[in-house]
Amino acid sequence: MSCRAAILISGSGTNLQAFIDAVAAGSLELDLCVVFSNNPNAFGLQRAEKAGIPTACIEHGDFSDRESFDRAVIEELDRWNPELLILAGFMRILSPTFVKHYEGKVLNIHPALLPKYPGLNTHQRVLDAGDKWHGSTVHFVTEELDGGPRILAGRLRVDPNETAEELLHRVQTIEHQVYPEAAGLVGSGRVAFNDGQAWIDGKVADEPIVRTFP
Ligand code: GAR
Repeated sequence: MSCRAAILISGSGTNLQAFIDAVAAGSLELDLCVVFSNNPNAFGLQRAEKAGIPTACIEHGDFSDRESFDRAVIEELDRWNPELLILAGFMRILSPTFVKHYEGKVLNIHPALLPKYPGLNTHQRVLDAGDKWHGSTVHFVTEELDGGPRILAGRLRVDPNETAEELLHRVQTIEHQVYPEAAGLVGSGRVAFNDGQAWIDGKVADEPIVRTFP
């Protein structure tokens, strides 16, 4: 039986599409049981419907605070019994209640080589700093924003003449490969979260697996 995974999105859902394609191609063994969004206009919801995946949506604007929104999301997601939650451009900060409820089961992808550049505008910040390398990192979600144990990073060389927009597109292309790969490792049990750390093949991983792209 493959691992039941819920994918949470807020927007376009190109990462979601990469998961849908990888499962359809047989290169990723996950049961995509539901796609959830806080935004009814997220294009990713249409991608899910086209692929025959159930969708659910709860708008955060209908709630007075983060805590009550997150409780409603937990109630909805629990109906689908997910073993893994995949944040794919889900632009909401999760409350401690949410993180505790799903401890060790939530993955995020952040467009930077963490621990560098948590937060927003990562591509411009990389260019401004003159960094040679940039990329994206898949990590377990903890209460620290973009700070949970890292699993897998995809990296590429920065061309100092490219724009932040160009860099964003190149980084997104590698995300579409590293995120399904990382989720597959967790889904198959090769990667796990234990005692606040990521374990890869039974060993504590101080550093993520790194893939280098052209
Ligand atoms: C992705 O690039 C992901 O790294 C980023 O949102 C984008 C979603 O794109 N996530 C974050 O910035 C989280 N801090 P998508 O909707 O096309 O998959």
